[in-house]
Amino acid sequence: MLAELTIRQLRNISALSLSPSLGINLLLGENGAGKTSILEAIHLLALGRSFRTRSLKQLIQFEQQHLQIISKTVDHKTPIGLQYGLTSGLEIRLNNAPLKKLSDLASQLPLQFIPANCHQFFEQGPKYRRQLLDWGLFHVEPSFNFHWQAYKKVVQQRNSAIRQHKKTDEIQLWDAHLVSHGDEISKQRIKRLEHLLAEFKIIFPRLCPSHKNSVFSLKYRSGWPKDSSLKDTIAATIERDKQLGYTRSGSHAADWSFKVDDYEPNEVFSRGQQKLFFIALCMAQIKTTQQGNIKSILLIDDISSELDASHQEIILNELANLSVQTFITSTDNSLADIAKNNADFTTFHVKQGQLL
Ligand SMILES: Nc1ncnc2c1ncn2[C@@H]1O[C@H](COP(=O)(O)OP(=O)(O)O)[C@@H](O)[C@H]1O
Ligand SMILES: [Mg+2]
Repeated sequence: MLAELTIRQLRNISALSLSPSLGINLLLGENGAGKTSILEAIHLLALGRSFRTRSLKQLIQFEQQHLQIISKTVDHKTPIGLQYGLTSGLEIRLNNAPLKKLSDLASQLPLQFIPANCHQFFEQGPKYRRQLLDWGLFHVEPSFNFHWQAYKKVVQQRNSAIRQHKKTDEIQLWDAHLVSHGDEISKQRIKRLEHLLAEFKIIFPRLCPSHKNSVFSLKYRSGWPKDSSLKDTIAATIERDKQLGYTRSGSHAADWSFKVDDYEPNEVFSRGQQKLFFIALCMAQIKTTQQGNIKSILLIDDISSELDASHQEIILNELANLSVQTFITSTDNSLADIAKNNADFTTFHVKQGQLL
């Protein structure tokens, strides 16, 4: 969790210092004030990328050469610094030593981001659902990353053999590794989803009391046909893969959802309810990834969109019971009233890239 945060020359923020609380930080202000930019800075610091753009150049304040984000972890006061320059690129320092890999930073700062349009989660492609699932596995299952990196590499090599029109037995050299890592990934994902669903079932009805009697169930697609094993599928589909030019079946094609009374969430829920669904999912992630003293950071952009005042209040109170450092943006000043009487909340008013 972050103790102090200084942002320089990022979007409309020239220089801003913020001492966040360990609980819930509300960032309130008008459109264009710089609220989302503060979340973007924290996201960039934790993950080395933005949620708004692939090109970090866009984040550098107009007419400037570089941006800078500096913070400290709460527990050990470890300094974390990030600089991105037009010519120097991305430089990250942890405890004053340069970091080689961005993933080192992700394991230091487990972070989840809830975008304003998160209600679209169950309509978007499977990639986003796999990412959410694998985020949790990355943080709780020490061997997951090893299997996933190895698996991705094998698929790449197999695909490259296919594209080079290698002989079938040369393509199939990769299959045993693909299957062993793929089976392990699938096993870990199912276990993780069951764990997640167990927490979700408790949290969601609290956020959405109108569904307290609903039945939630896991739908999991492994990435190959249900009635077959990965080994048999890969062996049986080699001709199809050669025609397609890539390996279609496998853990890279997995998908999942939590059904509500046997329906997909987006088939029965309003946008607001879908947003509550996604938020409950993220809360379940937090509950199930808390181990030892590893705490996570949660960013919620524009909490007020799609949600009425009473549901926003339920979410805020629910978050206060979780051990997670939260940053929430909203244009709705009435949230400050909820925060006023609760020690877990700290309110910041943002205007023209500065704190009031
Ligand atoms: N590279 C940049 N340099 C300066 N200002 C920028 C840059 N990129 C975006 N902006 C401006 O920064 C402001 C803050 O945007 P944002 O953080 O999205 O506001 P909010 O979330 O408070 O509505 C916007 O007015 C936007 O036009
Ligand atoms: Mg915004």
